[in-house]
Amino acid sequence: MSLSSPVVAIVGATGAVGVEFMECLEKRKFPLKELRLLASARSAGKLMTFKGQNLTVTELTESSFKGVDIALFSAGGGISKKFGPIAVQAGAIVVDNSSAFRMDPTVPLVIPEVNPEAAKAHKGILANPNCSTIIAITPLWPIHQKNRIVRFIASTYQAASGAGAAAMEELRESTRAHLEGRDYQNTVLPHPYAFNLFSHNTKIDPANGYNEEEMKMVKETKKIFGDESIRISATCVRVPVLRAHSEALMVECERPITPDEIRAILAKAPGVKIVDDIEKNYMPMPKDASGQDDILCGRIRTDISDPSGKSFCMFVAGDQLLKGAALNAVQIAELLVK
Ligand code: A2P
Repeated sequence: MSLSSPVVAIVGATGAVGVEFMECLEKRKFPLKELRLLASARSAGKLMTFKGQNLTVTELTESSFKGVDIALFSAGGGISKKFGPIAVQAGAIVVDNSSAFRMDPTVPLVIPEVNPEAAKAHKGILANPNCSTIIAITPLWPIHQKNRIVRFIASTYQAASGAGAAAMEELRESTRAHLEGRDYQNTVLPHPYAFNLFSHNTKIDPANGYNEEEMKMVKETKKIFGDESIRISATCVRVPVLRAHSEALMVECERPITPDEIRAILAKAPGVKIVDDIEKNYMPMPKDASGQDDILCGRIRTDISDPSGKSFCMFVAGDQLLKGAALNAVQIAELLVK
């Protein structure tokens, strides 16, 4: 197996994230020998373009991983659970975008700007964190390095893309129907999406009232930061935006911190860009974050509800399909070929 020029397979190549995997591999000139595209039987035979060439999608089966060095998975947790270990058995290293293995203590959960060294300990599978987690904590990490974050509260404004290509299509279709005065029956997401928003479509734990997305942010941040003591709460909401998530973050540090100090830290941090034009009231927007690698950070201000000066507020927007999914996974794969 040569990891300087690996054979790469994409599981879920026809999905919203799968397509972005291909874009990222091409744009970042990932040094691959061959790319194989895998999806369900429904997509077998479909042609997709990579580096100007047509590649044929084949059906994912137990024998799909022969000769594969790196397998990028984004076809849902069930597929990852079943086929991830099969891929490892066949000799591949799996970078998994689902939640199937994230909290497994033997599986590194990696944001390359935060904990790249964790990748080294992999035993065949590496996990890509939840999109809302990545978008919140990539900019928080460099601040945490300078002035430990003891607590943060996130309120998310999550795009359709997080629920896959079919949810994006449901947003487009239901918006069209609404504007034309037609009835529309939602089939992908649990509530009408056009001109509406709703609590994140994951199950709520009746014991604590938090949905799964919110608890992913809590648990995954502790694992990635390597800090079980950080206190986190989140409210996750789906909004009618196609592909970039936004989040309002209320953050408490160990010591006082000023907006200027935060801006100075973020100005030098990788993977983030400050968009904070107070005069023009121009702040991070999903429209601007879409298609961008960087997480946009703005509305940086002291939290006036905390007179100690240790707390601040910030608004961030990041492309869920890129840094929240495909880009981060490809960056993890890059750690493997270095
Ligand atoms: P397909 O397009 O053939 O259904 P999204 O996250 O956008 O919903 O995409 C899900 C991805 O996972 C798609 O590429 C989809 O392929 C793939 N997928 C879904 N079910 C299976 C399956 N049983 N076997 C292989 N791939 C699957």
